[in-house]
Amino acid sequence: MSGERPARVLVAATGGVAAMKTPFLLRRLREAGYQVRAMASARALAFTSENALAVAAGSAVATEESWFVADGAALHLELARWADLLVVAPASAASLARAAAGLAEDLLTAVISAGAPRVLWAPAMNPEMWNYPATQANVARLRGWGQDFVGPEFGALASVTEGSGLGRMSEPETIVEHVRYHLSQKDLRGYTVLVSAGPTREYFDPVRFISNPSSGKMGYALAEAARDRGAKVILVSGPTSLRQPWGVETVRVERAEEMHQAITSRYQEVDAVVMAAAVADWRPAETASEKSAKKKGPQTVELLPTPDILAELGRRKKSQVLVGFAMETVDGLERAREKLRRKNLDFICLNFPTRTGSAFGGDSNEVEIIFPSGATISSGRVSKRAVADKIWSLVRERLTGREKEER
Ligand code: C5P
Repeated sequence: MSGERPARVLVAATGGVAAMKTPFLLRRLREAGYQVRAMASARALAFTSENALAVAAGSAVATEESWFVADGAALHLELARWADLLVVAPASAASLARAAAGLAEDLLTAVISAGAPRVLWAPAMNPEMWNYPATQANVARLRGWGQDFVGPEFGALASVTEGSGLGRMSEPETIVEHVRYHLSQKDLRGYTVLVSAGPTREYFDPVRFISNPSSGKMGYALAEAARDRGAKVILVSGPTSLRQPWGVETVRVERAEEMHQAITSRYQEVDAVVMAAAVADWRPAETASEKSAKKKGPQTVELLPTPDILAELGRRKKSQVLVGFAMETVDGLERAREKLRRKNLDFICLNFPTRTGSAFGGDSNEVEIIFPSGATISSGRVSKRAVADKIWSLVRERLTGREKEER
């Protein structure tokens, strides 16, 4: 977000049935802390209503009618100056064509040509229209001017008889992610970071394993936050049900040994590692190649320790910033301090699995961040994304501190 005030997003709907999702997008943006205003073309209002947009935005909607009321104001100039980012959602083929031709004959293209600072298009149209050479040429032209696109995506299309195809508008949540990317300060640009996420699975046989309830959400939030701040991100992920984040190199693994291999092979090229993965500490000594038959009575399984990836990174550490997580049900602080020392970390984030709203599965978390000096900071109970941003700010301080020392 820019400076003191919340960043301002102007959302413009153009003609298309996806305009019925524009009020949801406005709502999601407000929930994410942005100040929003809505704008709608005459054709958009055939698919959504001025009322729905105004309620979702919390302010009056700019329309073709309101543009030229005789109040002496130049609405297109005012909007272009107000916005930090213009999002066109849905963007019709016609609106792309008008913008690529540099027309300023409707409110949207007038705002763009009046100098809207950045433009993000979320196209929605039938696949034939999207693939039409003129549309593709218009997209290329707008990209060439530094404008950006989210979607369209492959999926079910408006008309049930059309089935699916490439032309569906990205979901509001995805558009919000792209907005966040555009409005984030790029204070990690030039750095490469590695994040591990999710659980590992240690197999007894092809269909049975030891694991834990890690959802991967904390690690994915870390990867997305670093991407938004301009870092090159490598995400090494155990099995999760989360969508692969865009703009992040994701390496999928299952077993701790695979995670170990994936991480250590990239260690030389990264500036920082945040190990948010819940790596299983033990693996079965033997993995049967076929599913074992059920036997009566108790079974004994021999378990061997898995490699401690983070401890190895700590031993091999050169200038990398290393961050670990700890999850304890008793003696949390004491045990986390011991891990911080033993694994040679820059800091460690202690989770409280027994507190509500913390750690496993949810969208919020509360961590105690512990430093080698003995100092601690509590994040308070906030979103996993906010915890992630706090962690990257601390990593960044250490990265820039090291650069100063080297000079
Ligand atoms: O020792 P403990 O498992 O509690 O340490 C937690 C930290 O160490 C986490 O950051 C976790 O990702 C990492 N870890 C690891 N390899 C293991 C076990 C844990 O890198 N085998």
